[in-house]
This record gives sequence, C-alpha cells and structure tokens, in this order.
Amino acid sequence: MRHNRRVTSTIDQDHLVRAKAATDLWRTAVVYQIYPRSFADSNGDGIGDLPGITSRVPYLRSLGVDAVWLCPFYPSALADGGYDVDDHRDVDPRLGTLDDFDAMVRALHGADIKVIVDIVPNHTSNRHPWFVQALAAGRGGPDRDRYLFRDGRGAGGELPPNDWESLFGGSAWAAAGDGQWYLHLFAAEQPDLNWENEEVRADFGDTLRFWADRGVDGFRIDVAHGLRKDLSELHLPWGEIADLMREDGSHPLWDRDDVHKIYADWRRIFDSYDPPRYAVAEASVHPARRARYAAADSLGNAFNFAMQDADWRPEDYRRVINSGLVDMINNGSTTSWLLGCHDIPRVATRYGLPLEKDRPAYQVVKTWLLTDGTTPRLDRALGERRARAAIMILLALPGTTYIYQGDELGLHEVADLPREILEDPMASRTTTEKGRDGCRVPLPWSQDGPSYGFGSRPAHLPQPDWFGAYAVSVEEADPDSTLNLYRRALTLRGHLFARTDLRWVESELSVLHFERGRGVRCVTNLGAEPVALPPGEVLLSSAPLDDGQLPGDTTVWIKTPR
Ligand code: NOJ
Repeated sequence: MRHNRRVTSTIDQDHLVRAKAATDLWRTAVVYQIYPRSFADSNGDGIGDLPGITSRVPYLRSLGVDAVWLCPFYPSALADGGYDVDDHRDVDPRLGTLDDFDAMVRALHGADIKVIVDIVPNHTSNRHPWFVQALAAGRGGPDRDRYLFRDGRGAGGELPPNDWESLFGGSAWAAAGDGQWYLHLFAAEQPDLNWENEEVRADFGDTLRFWADRGVDGFRIDVAHGLRKDLSELHLPWGEIADLMREDGSHPLWDRDDVHKIYADWRRIFDSYDPPRYAVAEASVHPARRARYAAADSLGNAFNFAMQDADWRPEDYRRVINSGLVDMINNGSTTSWLLGCHDIPRVATRYGLPLEKDRPAYQVVKTWLLTDGTTPRLDRALGERRARAAIMILLALPGTTYIYQGDELGLHEVADLPREILEDPMASRTTTEKGRDGCRVPLPWSQDGPSYGFGSRPAHLPQPDWFGAYAVSVEEADPDSTLNLYRRALTLRGHLFARTDLRWVESELSVLHFERGRGVRCVTNLGAEPVALPPGEVLLSSAPLDDGQLPGDTTVWIKTPR
C-alpha cells in the first residue's frame, strides 16, 4: 500500500517544540483516578469505601503511579455520584470516617503515592445546612445570599425567571415554593453558590486548609470555570447562550475572567504550604482559554479534554498534542492528558466502534449506549488494541497523564444496565442520554465471587458476566495483558521521558512519530496496514511486532542508534 507523506502543521515545520524546562513531579506525574464508590468495598455493603482503597495500596504501588485523585467521598445523597456535597469537610459514613481517611493517606504516602481530593465549589447539595437555611429563610431572607435565588415570573412568581437549561436537561431553575427560584446548572439537588458572597469565599478557603492540613497533596477543582456568573443578564434567552464555549470570556455563566481572582486567592493558600499544594482545573472551556487555568498564578494545571474527545486518527492526535504543547509553552506550566474519566464512555469502547466521518466517537458511543450496546457492532479486541497503543502515546508525552480506574485493565463500557437501576441524573433528566453509569461499574479484582472481588456481596451497579475475564488476578497472571503493559510502560516512562523536549519526526500519513530526549522515539501506526519500523532497539510495544514491521493500531517505544 502507498502512503502519502504527511502534511505538516506550523508547529511541525518549526520542527522543535520545547516545552519549558520542567522537572518537578507535578509536571510529569502519572495520576490514577479513583471513583471511590466503585473501587473496592471493604465491608460488603456493595459500595466502595476508604478502607477498600487502603487495602489496595499494594496494587497501586505495583502499577507505578505517582498520585491518586479521589472523586468526592463526602457525605452526599448521591443525586450526582457524590458531586452533590452535604459537608465538604467530612467523609460519607458509608465510605468511612476521617480516621479512615487519615489511615488511607498514611498508607498511600508510605507507598510514595500522593493524594489529590476533589473540591466542588460551584454548588453544594440541597441537603447542605446553608441551603436548608436558605429555603427556611423565605423570600429575600439574608441566608439566601449564599445561593442564586431570583424572583419567578408571573403574578405569584409561578414561572421560572427565564428559559435557561440545566446541563443535565430540563430547566436550570427550581422553585423555592414562595415565588422565588434558585439556579442549578446541574441537578436540582445541586444549587449553585454565589461566589460574590464573602462567607462562601472564606468557607472554601477553610476547606482547602482543612484537607491540606490533613496531608492532602493536591486538589482537583470541579467546574472550575463556573464560579463567577453575571446574573444581570437574566433576560438573555437560552438560545443565545446555549453554546457555552466562547473565546472572549463574555458568557454570563461560564469561564468569566474574574474567576481567576478566586484562584489567585487559592494560590496564596496552596503556596503557604511546604511543598506547595497542587491543583488541576476541570474547565470545559474553549481550548484557547484553557491555559489561563494552568497559569502559575491560577490553578497551575488543567485537564486537556481535547485528548479525551479525539478520534483514533493521526490528524486528531497531532492537533491535540500540538495544542497541549502550545499551552505548556504559553503558560510556562504543564498540561494534563487523559483518555477517559468517570464522565465519558470508556476509551476501549469508543475506539472499538466504527469511525464515522461526520460524528466524533464520543458522540457515536452515546447513540450506541441508547441501543444498550447492540448497534453499531463493537469490536472489543480492536478497541482494546487501540487503547493500548493510545496510552503509550500519552505516557510518552511531556506533561501529566491521568489514568481512569479500570482503563489499565482494558475494561469496556457496560452498555446494558437496565434503565431502572441507573444512578446518574443525566439518565433520568433526559431521553437522549443513557448517562455515565456504564463507566462507573465496580472494578473486577478476581475472576469470580459475588462481585468479582470488589466486595463480599453484589456491587451497587451490577457487573456483567464478561467482567471476570478482565479481573486484576487474571491480568496479573498474563504477561501480555493490558495491566502488564501499563506496568511496564509506567516503569520505563520514568527513565525514558524525564526531559520535556518533543520533536516531531517526518512520517507517513497514518503514522505518529516523535522523539523525546536521548534518542527515544514513540512511533504509532494508526492505520490498518503495517509500515516499516524505524531502526533501533524496541523498548516496548503495545502489540506483537511483525518482523521489521509496525502493524496497524500499534505503538512502539524505540531507542534509535546514535
Ligand atoms: C464534573 C464532574 O466530573 C461530574 O461528574 C459532575 O456531574 C459535574 N462536574 C457537576 O459537579
């Protein structure tokens, strides 16, 4: 087969992309994301918990990660998987106690693994004492100022203030029952906070210090772009603002410039610790605005969601990598790569569905979920093969890499969960989404048992029969498993890619080829046909190699002769 030479981008033509020298851990760390309710259940109640995490520290250590990020474990009615927080400075009793938290941190630190916790500052739960007081305060009461209450329309305020929509579907307003309504950009159980309120600002400072004082090393900031809002724009119809991504910071609800004033205050808190505490922004913003969140005087790092949204195409990967490198250069900081998280169908599944010309895989997979995973046909082996090749690309890049629990096993999305047991509000508030439960099904640790080793009883979301084949115990015993590939890649990464240079190497259209310091190259064939393997010593390969050839959907790390 003939391969065209690839067209180079501006950055490629400049051929040498140098991210600023970056040596500290947080610029190169590999972070493992734990969704605590689905990781390990120590007491057989079907829900993962903090002692469960502690019991699996040896596993995390053997994987070779530098840090873990824990999704919310705070008291919560679980209206949104724990992102509806009742009390930011406590542990949900179903998940343990503060003592269990301290024991977990000690065990993780003892294994040289840092701890990042999730801070949810855009909203509280509707059970938070502040919100209970706000409702009780009645119309116009001062306790309402911590949230965003507005008068309804109609004679008795029986209509919402406007037609704005929640990101989970339906109105963004819920009635207080006295003619006022409160804003909730997510579920009605997640009232948005008013960040102009002094007490709100002071209290979150206390929350950051509370966890930092307990030894937490960093924070993942939920909806980091949503805190500042301009409600003087209440008259704007939703049709005019439904597109949340703007390049100029002019959206009334999203990514407003003055949100960084909050983070400048937080930066002073982070930097008052030794070592300074780390933070990463969950900011779904226009790519041109992402670097602001990663600036040294703001949060210092930001997720690069473009990677998660990319299709398995060389041009997608080149574009996303270049934009991440530009971010790093522009803000002197770093970027965070990820293939998945608890909010998006699993990468092995996205990459195993047929590629469509006009729809990205992350949308195709949502339609597939609505058919309970029957249409179009999922090619499991192909998806796993590509996901293995993909993680080797991410791990070879300068910057931080996040791994979502279970992706190291090559797990697929669980598509056929019955609607009546779904936990995600996205599923109950819309008919166009099946929601995010399919990537949150508890991990399989052993080949059998009532919940495949997750706990001693069935798990809170049922695991399918095929989960056993992906269990940790099965993969540990198989030298060619995805788990063992991850382990080898993580061990090698520390030795091979300590520097931050990245140089694109001219290659065929279907091939992604770049060099990092000391002549080590990462070469990926994203096509179906084999291509010639560059000369050198193969250090790691995501799939078996044909003699002198790099098969399709395969990545190799090669040390080139000097
Ligand atoms: C982003 C979190 O990742 C997601 O799970 C949650 O539903 C929303 N923020 C609202 O907190």
